[in-house]
Amino acid sequence: MTQKNPYLDRILTIELGRCTEAAAVAASLMIGRGDKEGADQAAVTALRDALNRLDIDGTIVIGEGERDEAPMLYIGEKVGRGGAPVDIALDPLEGTTLTAKAMSNALTVVAMATGGTLLHSPDVYMDKIACGPGYPDGVIDLDASVEDNIQSLARAKGVPTSDLTLCVLDRERHEKIIAAARKLDTRVFLIPDGDVAGVFHTTQPEMGIDLYIGQGGAPEGVLAAAALRCVGGQMQSRLIFRNDDERGRAEKAGITDLDRKYGLMDMASGDVMFAATGVTDGSLLKGVRWQGHKVRTHTIVMRSKSGTIRHIEAESNADPAALKANKR
Ligand code: FBP
Repeated sequence: MTQKNPYLDRILTIELGRCTEAAAVAASLMIGRGDKEGADQAAVTALRDALNRLDIDGTIVIGEGERDEAPMLYIGEKVGRGGAPVDIALDPLEGTTLTAKAMSNALTVVAMATGGTLLHSPDVYMDKIACGPGYPDGVIDLDASVEDNIQSLARAKGVPTSDLTLCVLDRERHEKIIAAARKLDTRVFLIPDGDVAGVFHTTQPEMGIDLYIGQGGAPEGVLAAAALRCVGGQMQSRLIFRNDDERGRAEKAGITDLDRKYGLMDMASGDVMFAATGVTDGSLLKGVRWQGHKVRTHTIVMRSKSGTIRHIEAESNADPAALKANKR
């Protein structure tokens, strides 16, 4: 990161955690209200306010959509009060449906990196494969079959394929992936939503998840790659374009090779900072807890340069009524 203060990224990492905290607290007021757009909007407004208080010259490269369809945190929007030039990828509410239905694992997620080093991906689908750290390079390959990937990882781990667990989004389009895993007696960990956490779980030995495969959002893919840059692991991806509109969006984002296979460093190559705060309770983070005017949050912040992972449990004063009216 081009900066006068060599400790700036350390400071910014913690500040980024403050931003995801603010978004999670705002979104928490919408848990279980059946209004996923409202929940997302609450998180967006709070996150934008918080980012605009940072001393950065930030450009949103992964955001809420294109400028003409998203009034806030759109791709290309500038945030911050001036300072180091940084790319920002964000998902103010990863798990809008989870929040609306009060289901577990909703998060707010932001990654920040040296300007120009995060993949400027349009909001399309992405094929993803990922595994945790400690395996030889190339142990997984997006272009190999699901069977070959499971067998390769099992060999590298020195266990039978029945000892591996594959995480997959629970979608009809993933039937073949699930069937291939079943044939090898590999356990399948199905998640209803939230594949940033799904990919990240491959790096957490306590989760017992070895491999992630499937199609999900491209923005979530870039965010997951940013997280993996901080903790290690392997990931490959390819963007999926279903129509001319999506191909047009790729062109706008400066993507010329539509079939390109991306590695981790192609998605997040610079010094990366990553922060996520739980909205509802989940396998990665505890959700927001209110007690009167006290609010407790659980945030993870990480930095690729140092590989530091911090879990921050914070208790702060907040007025739910003022927050709902967006006055603080
Ligand atoms: P939202 O927060 O936008 O609801 O996204 C949740 C999510 O599950 C992502 O984690 C995932 O990448 C994507 O949706 C999958 O898309 P789809 O629901 O269309 O299969």
